[in-house]
This record gives sequence, structure tokens and C-alpha cells, in this order.
Amino acid sequence: MSFETAATLDMSSAQTKRESYDSLLAQVRSVFDGERDWLANLAQFSALVYGAVPDLNWAGFYMARGEQLVLGPFQGKLACVRIPFERGVCGACARTQAVQLVRDVHAFPGHIACDSASQSELVLPVMVNGQLRAVFDLDSPLLARFDAQDAQGLGAALDALVAATDWP
Ligand code: SME
Repeated sequence: MSFETAATLDMSSAQTKRESYDSLLAQVRSVFDGERDWLANLAQFSALVYGAVPDLNWAGFYMARGEQLVLGPFQGKLACVRIPFERGVCGACARTQAVQLVRDVHAFPGHIACDSASQSELVLPVMVNGQLRAVFDLDSPLLARFDAQDAQGLGAALDALVAATDWP
């Protein structure tokens, strides 16, 4: 198996964005073929997304531990380690088990600014057999960086990751 660094995907139009997320999904399926370790796979997934998706300054997992999230594998600057479910965009995702698409983090009550460069954020729940196991958080230095296409494309990539992974 080769581990070529993913090229940055072209997301300049709706058409190229859809093709880019199709290509990301194919890469996820190929990278995780034959490896089911959760820690290795979450680390690789963070690196793959951070390298391939343009205009990110952070991408990674927070793991569900009781009523708290604890920092998991990620790419980017140092981040806060523990987030209670009642705080922040990540906490809102964990609490509601629903995707959080935040066009302007400064307008989100309780947003936790790990990096002052972050302007917009997308957080997706990671569900395994109906249980919340983690959230996947993406930050961007651009305002309104994420839309429904990003949520859908990354959701499909996460579904493939979940299916390819044995969870403890
Ligand atoms: N901004 C997040 C905290 C995590 S960092 O962005 C990596 C939040 O409000 O939950």
C-alpha cells in the first residue's frame, strides 16, 4: 500500500466539489482497506482530510467520554483537551447528535476559540451502532467556509471510516 499525500481537492464550484468528495471517499476506502485499528484509522483520517480539504486550520476528533468530549487524533495547532457536552460547537454536536454548520463562530453562543484564526466551523457526530463515539471537528480561517455539500461529503467519508474500523 502506498501512502501518497493527498492532493488538495478543487472545491471552487459545486461540480468540482462533488467530484472532490467522491474522490475523498474513494481514498478513505483505499487507505483503510485491511486496517481496522480505531486509533490508527482516526489518526490517518484526520491527516487525509486536513491534507485534502482546502482552507482548514484544524481537523480532528473529540472522543465521547461520559458527558465530556476528550481530544483525540487531530491535525493542526494545540487544542483544548476537554469539552463538556454543554459547551461549544462540539458540545452542541455531541448533545444533539446532529451536524453543526457554523458560518460565523463569533455569532455562536459559547463557541470555544482554540485558535483565534478560526472563523467558521463544521462538526459532525460519529455514530457507531446508534451510539455517539466521537465528533469530527473542522475549523476554517475563512468565514462561511462550509456548506451542506461539505457536511454531506464529510459525512459519507466518516460513514466509510466507521464501517472500516473496529471500535473498542
Ligand atoms: N471550537 C470548538 C472547540 C474545539 S477547537 O475548535 C479545535 C468548539 O466551540 O467546540
